Amino acid sequence: MPGLFITVEGGEGVGKSSNIAFIRKFLEDSGKTVLSTREPGGTTLGERIRALLLDARHDAMSDDTELLLMFAARAQHLDEVIRPALARGEWVLCDRFTDATYAYQGSGRGIDTGRIAQLEQWVQGNLRPDLTLLLDMPVAEGLARAGERGAPDRFEREQLEFFERVRTGYLALAKAHPERYRVIDSARALEDVQAQIAAVLTEVLR
Ligand code: TMP
Repeated sequence: MPGLFITVEGGEGVGKSSNIAFIRKFLEDSGKTVLSTREPGGTTLGERIRALLLDARHDAMSDDTELLLMFAARAQHLDEVIRPALARGEWVLCDRFTDATYAYQGSGRGIDTGRIAQLEQWVQGNLRPDLTLLLDMPVAEGLARAGERGAPDRFEREQLEFFERVRTGYLALAKAHPERYRVIDSARALEDVQAQIAAVLTEVLR
């Protein structure tokens, strides 16, 4: 079986980090070589772009600048990390990818989806994730968890309505792409969340 491209998505505070560690271990225990990475970031250059994007002092950043920086980091990430790993037959596990752009810049900021699709086609060609796990929970719950992590970044400073649009956007994407999306109810206890994820991975590994 060649490597798969798996992405993990969700709003703020839904528990991506601990669940990504769980997914990685589950796959490695099944004998897979896993490359775990994140967006925006994943390369030296991409992490510098990430710092620009998250810096709360950049409150004058225009929506288009934000969109283009996301895809600039993504282009580098694909060339330098993701495509080579997939070509080596590895499993790529990515903390957020282009669905985050549809959810945050599209549904959240209100950028026309057609423009995002154009950039997606340009930067990725036909490459799309094979599996996307959407960690879903009520917005207020996630924000309360994220709030425990210290000073909010440029995105975390947004209002509740912004994150409600992001969540609605993600759920619409899951509905539009049922072949690759699996929605995980992340509001439940961690063991229960991990059991849902394990069931999806078992199905994929079969
Ligand atoms: P993280 O906190 O999950 O690492 O993600 C950093 C922030 O970047 C998060 O608030 C979501 C945002 N983001 C976008 O707005 N668009 C994107 O395409 C990506 C990958 C992330």
